[in-house]
Amino acid sequence: MLIRVLGSAAGGGFPQWNCNCGNCSGLRAGTLKAHRRSQSSIAVSVDGRQWVVCNASPDIHQQIAANPALQPHQGLRDSGIGAIILVDGQIDHCTGLLLLREHRAPLELWTTETVREDLSTGLPILNVLKHFCGVHWHRIPVDGMEFQIPALPGVALIALPVEGKPGPYSAYRENPRVGDNIGLIFRDAGSGRQLFYCPGLAGIPPAVERVLGASDCVLVDGTFWSDDEMIRIGVSHKRASDLGHLPQSGAGGMAEQLARLPQATRRILIHINNTNPILDEAGPERAQLVAAGIEVAHDGMEIEL
Ligand code: MLT
Ligand code: MN
Ligand code: ZN
Repeated sequence: MLIRVLGSAAGGGFPQWNCNCGNCSGLRAGTLKAHRRSQSSIAVSVDGRQWVVCNASPDIHQQIAANPALQPHQGLRDSGIGAIILVDGQIDHCTGLLLLREHRAPLELWTTETVREDLSTGLPILNVLKHFCGVHWHRIPVDGMEFQIPALPGVALIALPVEGKPGPYSAYRENPRVGDNIGLIFRDAGSGRQLFYCPGLAGIPPAVERVLGASDCVLVDGTFWSDDEMIRIGVSHKRASDLGHLPQSGAGGMAEQLARLPQATRRILIHINNTNPILDEAGPERAQLVAAGIEVAHDGMEIEL
């Protein structure tokens, strides 16, 4: 199984277009040792030709341009993207669907039932797409049943419902439902190896802990370093917990949780917010992660399992 990180930043990207925080201004000025990052997406493939894109970010054109495997291979209209799967209905994960509207056939799209509802009501992308290529929608089961995507032969997928909120445009924003946010388990029958991809995680209940412990590689929520990061910088009044993200530092934080995993597990943070001090490759927070054996995903990162 091949995994390619298309975009490693949280919503807004890095630098964020309207942000002058220390990280964003430092990157623009060239004074910060850091790399630009596009918004949250990975691609998974078995053969390197046909890819399943997990989350269609608003940066998807730039991501296709940076990843030749996703570009047309043969014929007049073609794509290396065989299917798209969403872990939630947030803007940074689904608005790229609109940018694929020229597809020659309906997009093969996999979401939970609740995400389909949000994308047909509060943020009606699926209705809009009916005027273009349309989608061929497939339900992601949220009861722990395995499912397969034809574009990923030999890979069993399982959705793990996780705690979190749907987008602010959802009628269920304050009353989240099972299926609003999921993590995805990819199990390659050939190699027997398992990936867990979960860019939004509000906490680590026992079910999530078990999946983390059983995976060979975990690509998990790296949004914020501290709960009050955005408040301290002055860019928002929201805490990490208000947005459904478990911060890395502090008691019970992501770094502490990842330290419990078996030695051989590859542990990688993804969906990193532009305010997060771990983006500074010369900073003490990044050094702390390196010492703990935790990697920070970057655009273009390749993983083979
Ligand atoms: C999130 O991950 O919390 C959301 O995507 C935030 C956003 O992009 O608006
Ligand atoms: Mn997000
Ligand atoms: Zn910023």
